[in-house]
Amino acid sequence: MDILLLGCNGQVGWELQRSLAPLGRVTPLDYDSDSLCGDLSNLDGLSQTIRYLKPDVIVNAAAHTAVDKAESEYEYAKLLNATAVEVLAKEAEAIGAWLIHYSTDYVFDGGGDKPWEEVDTPAPLNVYGKTKHAGEQSIQNHCSKYLIFRTSWVYAARGNNFAKTMLRLGQDKDELSVINDQFGAPTGAELLADCTAHAVSKAQINPELAGLYHLTASGTTSWYEYASLVFDCASKAGVELAIQKLHPVTTSVFPTPATRPHNSRLNTAKFQTSFGLVLPAWQQGVKRMLDEILGE
Ligand SMILES: NC(=O)c1ccc[n+]([C@@H]2O[C@H](COP(=O)([O-])OP(=O)(O)OC[C@H]3O[C@@H](n4cnc5c(N)ncnc54)[C@H](OP(=O)(O)O)[C@@H]3O)[C@@H](O)[C@H]2O)c1
Repeated sequence: MDILLLGCNGQVGWELQRSLAPLGRVTPLDYDSDSLCGDLSNLDGLSQTIRYLKPDVIVNAAAHTAVDKAESEYEYAKLLNATAVEVLAKEAEAIGAWLIHYSTDYVFDGGGDKPWEEVDTPAPLNVYGKTKHAGEQSIQNHCSKYLIFRTSWVYAARGNNFAKTMLRLGQDKDELSVINDQFGAPTGAELLADCTAHAVSKAQINPELAGLYHLTASGTTSWYEYASLVFDCASKAGVELAIQKLHPVTTSVFPTPATRPHNSRLNTAKFQTSFGLVLPAWQQGVKRMLDEILGE
């Protein structure tokens, strides 16, 4: 199997380089790759890359993921998250390739407390969510063999993430306020990459698996509870923390350019049933990531 991987150095892309390797020949590209164009802002270049490689599978882990920045650069976010994705969808369809793509809990408005299902109607609150939703629609309109995985609160040992920020702040400050009215599931890039490789294999044998899926770790937490777990693990690992008090606060205490949904829970039953997988509790992956970074 020939696989083109776009965004190979992002959180998920980096793990995909590992997890996709046993499936065949992977061509990993970043936006500044030398030989072939992997830049989502270069639409002609992207088309040329696909026409040249003729991959069996295109995995797109690249995106405009800076949620607050996207508010002030709508056109650029749209280019990467929607227009480029339409190009990928059309090119994939033209060569009969599978297109694997990631989307987000931010396509929903965050109302209620019920985990969102794939059939629920998106109503994004911010530019990032709007452009990611437009990207999903482009794929559904232009490509027949696709897997779209909506996920949430992605972290990885490599790169920056919420847990690492908390660890840094917890060593400097004796009090911290953390948001306690946004709910979701922190999901490891490793888990996403492993599930993707499994799903790609299965989809080759069962093309009817093509579709949109919610894919996150199991369970729900808030940023406040997530931070509490980080400090608990850090102190058990012998990290010297300055933090004495953690205050649960509402989103309104930390105004940001982009509005965030309160309810980011995603119902993953369709994914687990379709692909015969059990998604582990969110704490499992977070503890493992902390073990890795605290063991350094
Ligand atoms: N992170 C989350 O919490 C989260 C939540 C829900 C869904 N998702 C989705 O999951 C997918 C993977 O996200 P991630 O967390 O792995 O994000 P990430 O770490 O930000 O990775 C995205 C990658 O895309 C690259 N990129 C930026 N501009 C590009 C361009 N013009 N052409 C090609 N590549 C470009 C980035 O490079 P630079 O880093 O150098 O800019 C980065 O390597 C995305 O579709 C995202 O929307 C993420």
